[in-house]
Amino acid sequence: MSESDVIDQLNFFEKKVLKALNELKSASPEQVREKSGLGQLVEVMNASSWLQAKGLVRIDERISKSYSLRREDAATKPLPEKVALDVIINGHKGRCSLADLKNSGKLKGEEVQIAIGWIKKKGWGELSKSGQDTIVAVTDKGRKALHEKGEDEHLLERLAKGELAETDAKKDVLDMLRQRKDLLNERHTTNRTITLTEAGAAVAARDLRIKEEVAQLTPELIQSGRWRDVEVRRYDVKAFAPTVYGGRRHPMSILIDKVRNVFLTMGFTEVSGDYVESAFWNMDVLFTAQDHPAREMHDTFYVENPAKIDLSQYMALVEAVKQVHENGGRTGSLGWRYKWRLDEAERALLRTHTTVNTARYIYEHPQTPFKVFAVDRVFRNEAMDSTHLPEFTQIEGIVCEKGANFDMLCGVLKEFYRRMGIPETRIRPGYFPYTEPSLEVEILWDGKWMELGGAGVFRPEVTEPLGVKEPVLAWGLGLERLAMLIYGLDDVRDIYESDVDWLKKAPQL
Ligand code: PHE
Repeated sequence: MSESDVIDQLNFFEKKVLKALNELKSASPEQVREKSGLGQLVEVMNASSWLQAKGLVRIDERISKSYSLRREDAATKPLPEKVALDVIINGHKGRCSLADLKNSGKLKGEEVQIAIGWIKKKGWGELSKSGQDTIVAVTDKGRKALHEKGEDEHLLERLAKGELAETDAKKDVLDMLRQRKDLLNERHTTNRTITLTEAGAAVAARDLRIKEEVAQLTPELIQSGRWRDVEVRRYDVKAFAPTVYGGRRHPMSILIDKVRNVFLTMGFTEVSGDYVESAFWNMDVLFTAQDHPAREMHDTFYVENPAKIDLSQYMALVEAVKQVHENGGRTGSLGWRYKWRLDEAERALLRTHTTVNTARYIYEHPQTPFKVFAVDRVFRNEAMDSTHLPEFTQIEGIVCEKGANFDMLCGVLKEFYRRMGIPETRIRPGYFPYTEPSLEVEILWDGKWMELGGAGVFRPEVTEPLGVKEPVLAWGLGLERLAMLIYGLDDVRDIYESDVDWLKKAPQL
């Protein structure tokens, strides 16, 4: 094809871009837009894609990374190795054991290991073995470091002021921060450069005969005869168009609706309950002994106001539950055999599972058969990481009918996940104080089996006081972990980060 033929086949936008590139040679889409006088970036990009297909330009993409702090306090909170340094120098004259460090109470759990790792790496201390324990002795470098800010700390301060491009930081210092868990957010941006090829340069240098383009012939154009001078834009059904993102529901609301739909079509009724509950409903009714570790402060959020919830309206049930805990009551069980206390049962807490909703339902509707479910928020006092949140959502359910059994429970769960689009589930033996037998459901995620929740057949110690005679199948499943699988996330925190890009693009299900 001759250059003249090539020019004939160029549209208005392509010509404008070529003309601009004739001067710029190589430029970003923004620069081309400015130079060409085109109104929108998509016009530049669209034309450039066509020009690239015709061999007249080359579009190069380069990803650049930038970083910001995941948590605001990351720059003000001292680094664990600094805290440890202070303990060793000021508390132990420069030399102490790992046990001393732990006992100082200044470092939590894994922070001691992290601190020691960095002290070694930064040459602030030397480690030696002494019997079972390890001794750290601070070096001169360590003593100096106590009163000086390190390069990593300076970088943290810089990051506290706002996002930083990877190229604006020293690589080794940035790497030090990147190695730390949960400290930095990484954002990727794509930078494009449009460059004339040799063929493109030859065409661009010629007279491109750019004519004004119109999208529509108007009476004015016809009457004035100006139609002779303009080019009528060709209709191009393959033209690139920007995606329009309208308002939409949050992916989690969409997922919850889907769960709801699955249970409703399986014949279940939905129930719900309150966030604040008594320990009685959350635990005692579920035959969880009052000294069970799950009832401790480090697992459960107790409420200060109200600190107690009056149980006098449930006196008969309270008495039956007390008997079951102390001696098994009328169930034939021996119970847990300890002195049950009303004040412990009255403590107010944020419900730790939605099993409290279904237990209350049984008490209020003991007539069988019934099938109910709940999708609701629960709270646990635990550290956040890529698969744990202190606030999450459970998919709870019960089936109560004559002849209901463990096989049926496995069947219902498998069917639920199948209808959610997850064919591969695995069932393992489990333990809960309130069910026997008990199971755990797992799904294959990222090559590993991930626990999704628990289930089982309620023990007579639970059903007898609640007044139900038939077997009750029960389960409580994690919604967020299911969401990770369905939306392909590798960090559960991403669900609630409100990343607009993800919110726009998450599949509609
Ligand atoms: N409540 C349990 C949990 O939160 C799950 C469960 C519900 C187990 C019902 C058995 C029966 O992990």
